[in-house]
This record gives sequence, structure tokens and C-alpha cells, in this order.
Amino acid sequence: MAKIQSIRGMPDVLPEASALRLWVEDRLRGVLDRYGYQQVRMPLLEATALFARGVGDGTDIVEKEMYSFDDRSGESLTLRPEGTAGCVRLCEEHGLLYNQTQRLWYQGPMFRYERPQKGRYRQFEQLGVECFGFPGPAIDAELLGLCSDFWAALGVSDALTLELNTLGSPEARAHYRDALLAYLRPLASQLDEDSQRRLERNPLRILDSKAPETQALLEDAPTLEGSLDAVSREHFDALRRYLDALAIPYVVNPRIVRGLDYYTHTVFEWTTTALGAQGTVCGGGRYDGLVERLGGRPTPGIGFAMGLERLTLLAEAQGLGPVLDGNLDVYVLALDEAHTAQALALGHQLRQALPRLRVQVHCSEGKAKARFKKADASGARYALILGDAEVSQGTVAMKDLRAREGEQRTVALATLIDQWRADYGAEGP
Ligand code: HAM
Repeated sequence: MAKIQSIRGMPDVLPEASALRLWVEDRLRGVLDRYGYQQVRMPLLEATALFARGVGDGTDIVEKEMYSFDDRSGESLTLRPEGTAGCVRLCEEHGLLYNQTQRLWYQGPMFRYERPQKGRYRQFEQLGVECFGFPGPAIDAELLGLCSDFWAALGVSDALTLELNTLGSPEARAHYRDALLAYLRPLASQLDEDSQRRLERNPLRILDSKAPETQALLEDAPTLEGSLDAVSREHFDALRRYLDALAIPYVVNPRIVRGLDYYTHTVFEWTTTALGAQGTVCGGGRYDGLVERLGGRPTPGIGFAMGLERLTLLAEAQGLGPVLDGNLDVYVLALDEAHTAQALALGHQLRQALPRLRVQVHCSEGKAKARFKKADASGARYALILGDAEVSQGTVAMKDLRAREGEQRTVALATLIDQWRADYGAEGP
């Protein structure tokens, strides 16, 4: 029978790659902790209408990338393509936005039916941050400072550039949309195919088209800058002052419009040239109208999300990652089946007494020689061996698997645990 394969664009993560991912995630969480952000967990499935309304009908995501289906009761559900809409829903549903501010984060898989390539998948993982209830630009700066601390914690700061823009207030954005449409309509036939499709539904997206013929036409297009009102301008100027105070370098890129409909004022992307075409590692911005659009009271919001696969690829490309010292300290083996119970009990006892000690017990069958081979291959520092003599005397044979001559000595169990405690502290090595 033919073997069943994984689904295109939904990669498996094997143990070694997973160790690097855990290393990345540990560092990111450490930074979130130091900023006092709190985690939320949303379900993977939401009502399709949440994304149609939240992310926007005219976006690529809603038009052609969502995994939607009717469940058994005929309700249309969608595997989340992003986390912001779901996070707003969660906050509204549980009253987290009433008269209070929130600084939240989440992590997990997102699903988009995109054309898979390196750094772009149909199931990918995001770590996202969302803040609510802060109208002023200080939180915009805090979030960019948080990002900058993420990159420092990973050691990838030099590979990333912050690209910043403002879309202005919803009114300024609408005004600019009209101006851009008026300019582009007569040129419609000269635009690339994707941009022609976007023209009436989402003209701002044309600004980040990669097609050279479209980019050439855009050179004389009206700029968003020209549509900005005084309040939008002041918000952006203040943010730039705060970034200078934090010594965070950035470039203003008026072409950054982002692919989701909910943004207002500040938008940003952290990009790298080290990953080829999929160089945007993190993107986000302010979305002051979204809570209202999803049925809540007007509440300012701002956030970002980063692709953990892209970030991990970047760390890997820079030669960063955990110092891999095997995943075991101790391998416990009985010399034959008769002492399996004692070996299991010893493993259990060691894990209880020394919580940091990484212990594995031999669970296969086979002759003593095969058991020693397994111990050697395990990568553990020590083998603890139980034969007839040891079991009858309440001792264990201890072999240093990394010593040349493989010296072996007999130790009483209590002494062993006490010795490790004395050497490494109460928790063990
Ligand atoms: P986004 O720009 O669509 O924004 O995605 C954020 C990040 O997720 C991207 O910069 C990229 O690193 C990663 N990403 C997106 N699509 C893929 C893919 N197909 N494969 C691998 N990685 C991918 C959002 O999702 C917004 N919800 C961010 C946000 C939060 N804005 C405000 N709050």
C-alpha cells in the first residue's frame, strides 16, 4: 500500500531542528517575561466571519488563502490564518478591554494556502503580541524596543532592519485611497495582473507590488505623506523621537502598507537580506478601528507577529543556536531482564531526587553487550549498571562513558545522590 505523506507546505520538525526552535522560543519568552507581558491561547478554529470582517474581504488572505469548511452542523469555520482577529475576539468575549489596558502574547500555528517555498509554508508558527487601550505612541515605541530586545537575545540584531511607515488615521487612509485610485485608474491596463485585480478592492496593496512595470508607474503616484492630518503626523513624529531615545535605528519606507486591512497609523516590518525572497521576519502595526469593527467599543490596539520558522532559519544562517551537549546525563541499564524493575525504580528515584538530571532507562530487550552499545550511543555522560551483585548489595556500577578507559566503580546509591548534590547543588547537574 502506498505510504501516506505529509501535506504540501506543512513541514514536520525533526528532533535536531526542534532543539534549535526550543532555544529560540526560550529566549523570546525570557524577553516577554522581563516586559511583564501575559500569554493567551486562542483556538485554531474560529468562525469564518471573524476573519472576513477582521482581516478584510479584499485581502489576499481572505480572498484566496483561508482553509475554510462547513462543520457537521453547517457552520462555516476557518483555520486561523493569523492571530490578531482571534485575540480581539477573546478579549471582547471575556471583558478584558473594559476600562483597562492589556499587554498580551500568543504563540502557535497559523494556516494560509500560499505557494510553498523556503520560508513560506501553509502551516507556520507565529509568536504574536497585542496591546490594547493605549492611544499614544509610547506603546508603539515599547513594542519596537521589545522586538529589538528579541533580536539581541538571539544574536541576530545585525541581520535585521526596521522599516517603518504610517498609514495615518482611517480618514487619512480613505482620503489617500481615493487619491491613489484616481491616479491609477487611467493607467490600469499598464499594471501587472495582480495589481489590476487589486485596483478597486485594495489599491494600497499595489504599493508593495514587486512588478517592475508597476513600480515604474508608482514613481509619480501621490504619496500617503500628502494625505496625513496633523494628529497622524504628530503620532509618527513622536514615535520617531522615542525610537531615537531608545537608540533603535530604522528607515522610513512609504511603500510598507501591510497585507491586512485593519492597520492605521504606525506600520512596520523587520526584514533581512539573509533569507532570500521571504525576508520579512516580523510585521505589525496599529489597528485602532479593529475592536469596533468586530463589535466592541472603540479601543486602540497595536501588535506584531513574527514567523518562528523564518526567525529560526535566520539564527541558523548566522551559526547561532544551543550548545548541544547531548540530551542525557545518565543512562540506567539492567544487565538482564530480571533486574528491569530495579532499573526503572532507580531511574524514577534519580529524577525525583535531582530534578535537573536527565535520565533514561534502557527499555529494550537483548544481551548485555547490546545494552552497553545502547548506553554508549545514548550520548549520556554516565551509565549506571545493575547486575546481580549490585542488586543484591544495594549498589550500582557507575561508568564514565566519556572517559577514555571507561573506568567503572561501584557506588552505594545514597552516596551517589549525595555526591551529585554536593557537586552541583540540590537540583543536580
Ligand atoms: P503578517 O505580516 O501576515 O502579519 O505575518 C507576520 C509574520 O508571520 C510575517 O512577517 C512572517 O514572518 C510570518 N509569516 C506570514 N506568512 C507566512 C508563511 N506563509 N510562512 C511562514 N511565515 C509566514 C500578521 O499575521 C498580523 N496578525 C501581525 C499583527 C499582529 N499585526 C498586529 N498585530
